[in-house]
Amino acid sequence: MKIVIGCDHGGLEHKNAIAEHLKERGFEVLDCGIYEQKSVDYPDIAKVVCEKITSGDCQRGILVCGTGIGMSMAANKIKGIRAACCSDHFSAKYTRLHNDANILCLGGRVVGIGVATELADIFMDTEFEGGRHSVRVAKIKEIEENN
Ligand code: RB5
Repeated sequence: MKIVIGCDHGGLEHKNAIAEHLKERGFEVLDCGIYEQKSVDYPDIAKVVCEKITSGDCQRGILVCGTGIGMSMAANKIKGIRAACCSDHFSAKYTRLHNDANILCLGGRVVGIGVATELADIFMDTEFEGGRHSVRVAKIKEIEENN
């Protein structure tokens, strides 16, 4: 599975650590930056990362900003993206099982690198349950189509 990852200045250390960890686990990781500590606008990074998902180049993505919230707001504006901002293990698991989230957003100023890395692992390792949840995800898509 190919993963795309990106961050703003609120999440550089986390992004680097998670990218390294996932590579060590054998995932192909496309790092869309940033690559050095400088101030950037998180929607610009969210856009680049989401395009890698909507184009089919990558199957899942991870975005890190200070809170994870700005990244998730920006990402969820893009058709085909279901981004979940998570800071606990239960949410990271169930957003895959029930929502088929394709982007995990993390807050570099909210969770430590250890927790963030575990959340990324759960997100990568959990498959969508389908069944009744497919109907609900289809309704999300319908809202997207009509608005
Ligand atoms: C940047 O200072 C900060 O606003 C950003 O990283 C993020 O937390 C936005 O939601």
